[in-house]
Amino acid sequence: MKTLISEEQVREGVTRMAFEINQTYANRPLTIVGVLTGSVVLLADMIRQLTMPLRVGVVQASSYRGATSRGPLVINSDLMPDIANHDVLMVDDIFDTGHTMAELIQLMEKLGPTSVRTAVLLRKSGQQEVTIQPDFIGFDIPNEFVVGYGLDYQDEYRNLPFVGALEDEDLQRHASRTKRNHDSC
Ligand code: IMP
Ligand code: MG
Repeated sequence: MKTLISEEQVREGVTRMAFEINQTYANRPLTIVGVLTGSVVLLADMIRQLTMPLRVGVVQASSYRGATSRGPLVINSDLMPDIANHDVLMVDDIFDTGHTMAELIQLMEKLGPTSVRTAVLLRKSGQQEVTIQPDFIGFDIPNEFVVGYGLDYQDEYRNLPFVGALEDEDLQRHASRTKRNHDSC
């Protein structure tokens, strides 16, 4: 695996984003909504650097992308806090096509928040298929499949403290493991 953003660079990026968020909201109360599961690491690191009165909730969104292709988006909002008349900041790991964020914003706006903004650790260059853009961005990255710091490939690698790009040998290892598991079923 190739390191794309080192642990120290990630830390600096998260601190920079938190600084911008603190400046934007000043001391106004804020409701953070983390998008499960990819945002959990960013969420934990970032909220500890936010200084306004803060509520934290989560929403689950998954597009069942087995390897790299997108399926329909499934949203579970059972754990969402009440956001009517609240300033909302949605936090996700990566802005790729943008469909996840675009659909979540639509869903939030129906619930009557005062405002909805978005923060992502990563934005993939040239991949967007929607008109919205995140309000706070940690890093712009090339169009590579990345893992670590919350991001997964087939539910692995979320615990890596840096962001890495998977290489062919990583994918081959996964393919042979999947085949073995399948064989033993
Ligand atoms: P979008 O709807 O295409 O913007 O995709 C957003 C979601 O796809 C993210 O929340 C991730 O879960 C997943 N995703 C997109 N690109 C990557 C990647 O390079 N690595 C891991 N997950 C990704
Ligand atoms: Mg995700």
